[in-house]
Amino acid sequence: MRQKMAAGNWKMNGTSASLDALQALAKAHPAPGCEILICPPAPLIHRAAQSAAGTAITIGGQDCHSAPSGAHTGDTSAEMLRDAGARYVILGHSERRSDHHETSAEVRAKARLAMETGLATIICVGETLTQREAANTLDIIGGQLSESVPDLATGENLVIAYEPIWAIGTGKIPTMAQIGEVHDFLRTRLEARFGPGVGRSVRLLYGGSVKGNNAAEIFAVPNVDGALVGGASLTAEDFSPIITALD
Ligand code: G3P
Repeated sequence: MRQKMAAGNWKMNGTSASLDALQALAKAHPAPGCEILICPPAPLIHRAAQSAAGTAITIGGQDCHSAPSGAHTGDTSAEMLRDAGARYVILGHSERRSDHHETSAEVRAKARLAMETGLATIICVGETLTQREAANTLDIIGGQLSESVPDLATGENLVIAYEPIWAIGTGKIPTMAQIGEVHDFLRTRLEARFGPGVGRSVRLLYGGSVKGNNAAEIFAVPNVDGALVGGASLTAEDFSPIITALD
């Protein structure tokens, strides 16, 4: 039985004042029916983890380097995230793949070190609109999955987020059949590579314009174990109904 997950990716949004949202969420969901994860920007992780201590909220990072330490100005290591109180890290988000030209090989190297450091990873995959219209969605996602996920993945240290790039921040979402097709495909691929035990225990999140008014429909799709939410995770008011839809 996979534990459902409501994960919020704050991206490059928020200051210390935003931590009030954590307290409001914690108050609204003292015993949630799903795991609640918030991934704030790096400077807020330590304070977010302190603020979430003793609540049902877990804190994660949005990226980490593939090297354990060293001369990498501006970067954050997996060990630093853990030390700051993070338990998860998002890797291979399409905004990192495009803005920072991250390849799947780099994502895999980051994921390997993150897992070895004791962080669970949320590895993102997703197609562009052009790729979908050319009927290449499953090829693209299959390639990203096999190249980005390291061999040491388990049901505990790996979560996959399917985020169609054209659905991120646009208010557009795929049909439920399209979401179901990709999630079934991901499940089948994970089972084939890691065996049924691990393959069935990895959680699969959908991400891209998830809101309170479409969450329940998306969560009813088989093999959707929750959501990775951007814009609607920034306030307790918007995120709370998504958490409730997983109860
Ligand atoms: O990682 C979450 C994300 O890319 C989806 O963003 O704003 O469409 O929910 P949004």
